[in-house]
Amino acid sequence: MPVPATVLDQPIQWSDPSLWPLLNDLQGNILKGHGRDHTMNHFLRFGPGDLAAAKVIVRALGARTTSALRQLQEVEDFKLFERPGGTGVFFFLTRTGFQRLGLQPPAGAAFAGGMASRQLGDPATAAWEAHLRPGIDAMLLVADDSVTKVGNAAAALTRGFAAAGIQVVGVDAGHALRSDPSVNEPKGRGIEHFGYVDGRSQPLMLSQDVAREQNESDGIDVWDPRVGPGKSVLVRDPNGKSDDSYGSFLVYRKLEQNVAGFKHRENALADALSLVGEDRERAGAMVVGRFEDGTPLILESEAKDPNPTPNNFDYASDAPGDRCPIHAHIRKINPRTPNDAEQRTHLMARRGIPFGDPDRDLEDEASFPTGGVGLLFMAYNQDIERQFEVTQRFWANDDAFPGDAQGRDAIIGQPVGGGADSKWPTGKPAPNDRVTFGFRDFVTMKGGEYFFAPSRSALIGLT
Ligand code: HEM
Repeated sequence: MPVPATVLDQPIQWSDPSLWPLLNDLQGNILKGHGRDHTMNHFLRFGPGDLAAAKVIVRALGARTTSALRQLQEVEDFKLFERPGGTGVFFFLTRTGFQRLGLQPPAGAAFAGGMASRQLGDPATAAWEAHLRPGIDAMLLVADDSVTKVGNAAAALTRGFAAAGIQVVGVDAGHALRSDPSVNEPKGRGIEHFGYVDGRSQPLMLSQDVAREQNESDGIDVWDPRVGPGKSVLVRDPNGKSDDSYGSFLVYRKLEQNVAGFKHRENALADALSLVGEDRERAGAMVVGRFEDGTPLILESEAKDPNPTPNNFDYASDAPGDRCPIHAHIRKINPRTPNDAEQRTHLMARRGIPFGDPDRDLEDEASFPTGGVGLLFMAYNQDIERQFEVTQRFWANDDAFPGDAQGRDAIIGQPVGGGADSKWPTGKPAPNDRVTFGFRDFVTMKGGEYFFAPSRSALIGLT
């Protein structure tokens, strides 16, 4: 008996053994982030010629992928025995990868066309990093808390590639950035290169995670993060070997961050808004929707160093965006409109990690980079068009979403060089209640692709 859809349409209790066959066939990292601090994404091409040897390798990689079940058991083992999890291994195919291996690609126009063919406001592919241009067949993601172990595992896993005609066209390495570990034991909060806490707001698909959010964080009665995996990430795998074989679409985008430019512009915005002293921090908080330490701007007028970082809020008390601009990144891409069930269907499971020097001095203005650092944006989707593409194309890139033309997403709005200046709340009465100020183009897309994480049985059973 396959797991009924009604079970998957709400957060699941993974410790229920009736779910184990499904979870053993599903790759990890989809229902919950793998949480490792170092990653290597290998971009692969198959062939030319006879693919028999490549298929042997893909079968072996399939057997080595970390299942959802194993990942969740490892999390439990760590809690109970402080036993750290092993190296995470995850494998993905593009549309051409499916075709080359003689497999049936999962349906969907976005996946069939590939990222470069879509209207996302991205730079022309000639400006993308060469290894991320169209033509990728597969991606191998290796993750561990030890940078040495990631390197060793990647070397071992890719050893037979050349002989099997599998070309590694490029590798993107990810390194988590962390705030002071004393703030949030044992690792510190995850941050991104502009210096802001990231990865806090996620759709929660496991009832254990929901319980923790309810009991150990700030609750779920205002913003309810509960989402069924069957409604947000799971896709029936056309090549899976059981009725419980699922995969998920993965959106991959390498987003370079101009930290020096961003920080300089934050200061200029603080000037334009006549903010003084500590209150100048509010300029950046208006861009992101949270202060650097994760304090939501809608809840507080200053950074409060909260632990845990709050996520139980919406914007109902601030419809005009007088406090938190409507175009602030987190408000623009999740407006949290109360009782709007349709809006929630666009949420994705974000699994990104920063790239670039993880040891740079985050406080030293003189050494703020203008490039070479950024975010390896990754997000699992059930439907790329409904989730990632609506968010990027029709929300972030659109000055007029939602409603009044207040401006596009100041972090990820595209295309670079386009869009009108945004309107920022001054706290003064009309007609001086807004200042028009351009804040854009500090994130540049360097390439990416749409992938699918097949079920493990589809990979292992490849013929
Ligand atoms: C370099 C690029 C990016 C940076 C620096 C960035 C930064 C951030 C930060 C600091 C947060 C707040 C932490 C949190 O609430 O979890 C956040 C949240 C979020 N970001 Fe991004 N982000 C980037 C790209 C993207 C992209 C490309 C998308 C999707 C198209 C996206 C979607 C989201 C979503 C959905 C949230 C959670 C909002 C919520 O539920 O309140 N981000 N991002």
